[in-house]
Amino acid sequence: MATIVQITDLHVHRDADGTLLGVPTWDTLDEALQMMEQHVPGWDWLVLTGDLAQDEELDTYEALAARLGDRLERTLMIPGNHDDPALMRQVFEGAFDEGGARFAQVVDGWLLLGLDSHVDGKVSGHVDEDQAAWAQAQLDARPGLPTVLFVHHPPVAIGAAWLDAMGLERPEPVHELVQRNADRVRAVVCGHVHQDTRNELHGVPVFTSPSTAFQFEPGGDLPGLDLIPPGFRVLELGDELSTRVIRAEQLRFGPVYTGGGY
Ligand SMILES: [Fe+2]
Repeated sequence: MATIVQITDLHVHRDADGTLLGVPTWDTLDEALQMMEQHVPGWDWLVLTGDLAQDEELDTYEALAARLGDRLERTLMIPGNHDDPALMRQVFEGAFDEGGARFAQVVDGWLLLGLDSHVDGKVSGHVDEDQAAWAQAQLDARPGLPTVLFVHHPPVAIGAAWLDAMGLERPEPVHELVQRNADRVRAVVCGHVHQDTRNELHGVPVFTSPSTAFQFEPGGDLPGLDLIPPGFRVLELGDELSTRVIRAEQLRFGPVYTGGGY
């Protein structure tokens, strides 16, 4: 049995007191890390699924590395739209495969695969055929291992029109990867949409997870904040996969969100 914690959409900045949409994102990250140690003390690996640094600055990644401390030895990560994959690779050398801002890690008989869906200058994401071929090669090199696929942008619609319009563009390479390996990919786990959802792709569950910062309202055509506390996801990998979301007890801010600008 391996216990994986997914922390996503941190949106921290160079300024330690910085806020985003009224949320002190370093403080809410600290709370998430404290809750992780308190509620999931035996965690094996931490997976950060993108939108780590709102400002995409070197200093911000270095501050995040300091915040993670010894936990970095058991941390994997992929970029989101609010990230600079090259800077991430520079600061977090050990977290990635040699070929890109992506990872393949075997943990207790499971394969964890992380894809880079970042596209420079865009909010939406993409995974091209070359990267899907890399992922297939990783799967082929570990035949039969049950697998969890991590990607920042969800490859399926979640039912919120404004977020679905900035999801994974031209998702066919990921869809084909999941379809071809549907007998062993046990879940696709995403960030980006700042909410807890479950959908399906070729019979495989697709989860999205709360941000450690602020939450978006489920459903709806227009942007809106959901006034529920931040959180993170826990994945237990044994004979089967089980997962749950843990949330903070309370909100840490007065909402100032007026729409747009994400
Ligand atoms: Fe985000």
